[in-house]
Amino acid sequence: KSVLILNGPNLNLLGTRQPEIYGTTTLKDVEDLCHAHGSALGFEITCAQSNHEGVLIDQIHEAKARHSAIILNAGAYTHTSIALADAIASVELPVVEVHLSNIHAREEFRHKSFVAAVAVGQICGFGAKGYVMALDALADRLLKI
Ligand code: DQA
Repeated sequence: KSVLILNGPNLNLLGTRQPEIYGTTTLKDVEDLCHAHGSALGFEITCAQSNHEGVLIDQIHEAKARHSAIILNAGAYTHTSIALADAIASVELPVVEVHLSNIHAREEFRHKSFVAAVAVGQICGFGAKGYVMALDALADRLLKI
């Protein structure tokens, strides 16, 4: 089974972006972690990142033919994008929503997630470990481990 790790806007800046909130782990560190943990579980892992809403939507559409599930950190589009939520609903792939920070403990505008309503679940507040937890959740669901 194949899992797409999809990261949205500004996550390419991880490591230097507001380290007091997001830590010093880079996107490459996150992706390396996903490759290592995903392979150990028996998944094929593909990683992608875009700062553009439409590109993320295209990647979700294309994932239907290529992947069994998506781990999505949609960044700020989480809180704004009905189009992204519609794309997830359209492809009918299991999507696990991940955030490095605990969005519910931050500004009010981060409490609302359009992704949550179409995701199988949400993991937030555990930094890069959240991606590992999401892979474990998908292993449970897809590989019945
Ligand atoms: C984030 C939380 C979002 O509110 C924010 O806009 C991000 C990162 C996180 O991983 O904690 O870009 O998705």
